[in-house]
Amino acid sequence: MAEDLFIAEGTKLDKYEILLPQLKSLCENEPNSIANLANIAAAIKETFQYFWVGFYLIEKEELVLGPFQGPVACTRIQKGKGVCGTAWAQKKALLVPNVDEFPGHIACSSLSKSEIVLPLIVNDSVIGILDIDHTEYNAFDETDLAYLTDICTWLAPLL
Ligand code: SME
Repeated sequence: MAEDLFIAEGTKLDKYEILLPQLKSLCENEPNSIANLANIAAAIKETFQYFWVGFYLIEKEELVLGPFQGPVACTRIQKGKGVCGTAWAQKKALLVPNVDEFPGHIACSSLSKSEIVLPLIVNDSVIGILDIDHTEYNAFDETDLAYLTDICTWLAPLL
């Protein structure tokens, strides 16, 4: 079946409102996690043109690079390291307005200036993270946090 993505005009909120039901429709009948993660990364990237959108999944006590859209990235991140490893350790979303001010930030690209990272949690355990980078400072806000939290909340149990 040909997949298509309708991208709304308007505000960031307008775009998320149109995006979320499409993500659920894309994933609801697909049992393969990699396929779902790949489509979600692509849909977020296409909708917002963020610099890097992707997932890291926990494998044997470290985060391992999963499906993503954007430049090549580091493949493994230890718990508590970088923004991703810290979000894992603290089991909470991190909204980073300026990556240069985040102690231990891992710069997969020097072009990344702000970042948002959210944990994927199943049965109170982190199984991975969603990581999004932007080339401008302060690019992410409470709208991103709210809607991306919603996405991660319904996505995690599917994985
Ligand atoms: N910046 C992340 C590393 C992943 S790359 O951004 C894709 C971090 O500090 O954990």
